[in-house]
Amino acid sequence: MHLHSLAVVFLASCSLWPSVLGGPAPVSTAWSPALAKRHTRNRKDDCPQVHRGSFIINQYQLYPENADWDEDACLVYFGSLWNATVAIYDPYIDDFIAVVEFPNVTRTGTEHIGGVAWDRFTGLITILVDSAAPWATAGANVSGTNLLLKWDPNTQTTLWTVNLTETTHGTYGAFQDIETDKRGYTYVVGTFPGSILRVNANGTEVIPWYGPLQTVNTTIPGLGGLVALGPEGNLLLANDAGNGSIYRLDTREALAPRTLTQVPIHPDVRYNDTDAIYAPPLFNGTVLLVASHAAGIQVLVSRDGSWTTAEHLGTIPNPPPGTPSAVAEATNGSIVTAAVQIGPNAVYIIDDWLADAWVTGEVAGNRTQFPMPDITTQINTLLRLR
Ligand SMILES: *[C@@H]1O[C@H](CO)[C@@H](O)[C@H](O)[C@H]1NC(C)=O
Ligand SMILES: *[C@@H]1O[C@H](CO)[C@@H](O)[C@H](O)[C@H]1NC(C)=O
Ligand SMILES: *[C@@H]1O[C@H](CO)[C@@H](O)[C@H](O)[C@H]1NC(C)=O
Ligand SMILES: *[C@@H]1O[C@H](CO)[C@@H](O)[C@H](O)[C@H]1NC(C)=O
Ligand SMILES: *[C@@H]1O[C@H](CO)[C@@H](O)[C@H](O)[C@H]1NC(C)=O
Ligand SMILES: *[C@@H]1O[C@H](CO)[C@@H](O)[C@H](O)[C@H]1NC(C)=O
Ligand SMILES: *[C@@H]1O[C@H](CO)[C@@H](O)[C@H](O)[C@H]1NC(C)=O
Ligand SMILES: *[C@@H]1O[C@H](CO)[C@@H](O)[C@H](O)[C@H]1NC(C)=O
Ligand SMILES: *[C@@H]1O[C@H](CO)[C@@H](O)[C@H](O)[C@H]1NC(C)=O
Ligand SMILES: *[C@@H]1O[C@H](CO)[C@@H](O)[C@H](O)[C@H]1NC(C)=O
Ligand SMILES: *[C@@H]1O[C@H](CO)[C@@H](O)[C@H](O)[C@H]1NC(C)=O
Repeated sequence: MHLHSLAVVFLASCSLWPSVLGGPAPVSTAWSPALAKRHTRNRKDDCPQVHRGSFIINQYQLYPENADWDEDACLVYFGSLWNATVAIYDPYIDDFIAVVEFPNVTRTGTEHIGGVAWDRFTGLITILVDSAAPWATAGANVSGTNLLLKWDPNTQTTLWTVNLTETTHGTYGAFQDIETDKRGYTYVVGTFPGSILRVNANGTEVIPWYGPLQTVNTTIPGLGGLVALGPEGNLLLANDAGNGSIYRLDTREALAPRTLTQVPIHPDVRYNDTDAIYAPPLFNGTVLLVASHAAGIQVLVSRDGSWTTAEHLGTIPNPPPGTPSAVAEATNGSIVTAAVQIGPNAVYIIDDWLADAWVTGEVAGNRTQFPMPDITTQINTLLRLR
């Protein structure tokens, strides 16, 4: 393994971004004063509430695969799948304050950016760059470069980059989500077949922490998403992308057991097309949202937060009933890839499109409108009905 690989560095390019609502689309930048300004706020202050309901983001080729809410800077980080950029959105002004590009990654077409996560323990941003081949071939070809980047939003620099393919040797992959624990370990979940890699705090060590149990038939879908709960992030939940089972792991284990502990779901509702899982911070680890491409957002609850069992409260369809028609219409043809909290008080569905024809000479479709259906009311209603 190359330590501190310099293969990917933060792009130094022209900087130009809109400071006013409805300004021109932002371009990539090595230094965003708007982001720097955000990091001067007092982190003890809670982020202001958002009062938006469902809305539509206007950003050419956003194609969001996953997102996370940064409670320090009060910003949303989107992984923009096809362009392989990280788009940083300010919900209070409804605009992007930066779109971060990475040389040899962004707009190559052979690399995606999906998982992006704010680390509640360090405030750092973890960015997962994954090879497109496994997704294009449903796991038949799992080769290609997969990178994990640790990015400091304060200095706007990449602290380290690790090439996960040095560990997998291209025999398994389809990495799509990341979590961190208080000790500084980052867990990376792979789907074809199921695996979890663990990377240490400075990116100098990568170990296959769970699986893969076999690499002969890489087309069998394994784990899809990850969530780390508890005051130290020791309780790790993962979902089976192929059958919707939820597994409970303990990050204090040196290695995860071969046989994963299933979290029984009552009633036993599971979907065969699950993607990201997410525990909105506002429910303090008691609510798990499971994204099903076709069915929507499944709402699971563990009243004591132990996740020894889970109660299935219901599934919020996409778009949810009552969504304003413009937003509802904008979801036409989408799949549900994730959910994300925005502000201290609201939770949204993330819609993405996997089949749009690429614009000639570009690596993504021509979509500009990306709907964000608000599901806060639906979640609260399901919680009250229990
Ligand atoms: C991009 O890839 C090219 C060709 O492999 C290499 O020469 C170059 O150093 C890379 N650039 C960065 C910034 O990694
Ligand atoms: C994607 O790349 C295109 C250029 O091909 C650019 O116009 C657009 O703003 C980018 N969008 C994102 C979210 O990276
Ligand atoms: C598998 O994907 C890699 C890119 O990761 C590509 O270079 C290679 O040609 C593909 N192999 C086959 C057999 O298609
Ligand atoms: C990542 O590692 C793989 C396996 O060693 C290698 O083929 C690939 O070129 C590396 N990619 C980068 C960007 O260093
Ligand atoms: C990285 O962290 C490990 C402990 O996980 C430590 O042994 C090693 O010295 C550190 N390396 C660097 C370059 O900081
Ligand atoms: C690999 O697994 C898939 C999915 O279970 C199955 O359809 C396929 O037949 C298997 N291929 C081989 C070569 O065993
Ligand atoms: C949140 O959950 C933790 C257990 O993970 C518990 O110790 C804490 O009291 C809870 N906080 C609130 C505000 O309910
Ligand atoms: C879900 O699939 C996994 C293999 O990916 C299997 O081990 C597990 O038994 C399945 N669960 C159920 C309930 O079918
Ligand atoms: C997944 O479930 C849906 C709905 O029950 C069904 O139509 C579909 O055929 C299933 N897909 C697979 C791959 O089993
Ligand atoms: C949804 O999109 C499809 C094409 O993908 C189109 O045929 C259909 O008319 C659209 N439906 C609505 C309600 O816009
Ligand atoms: C986007 O591309 C589709 C074909 O993929 C085309 O039907 C549609 O008119 C295009 N829309 C715009 C705004 O260019």
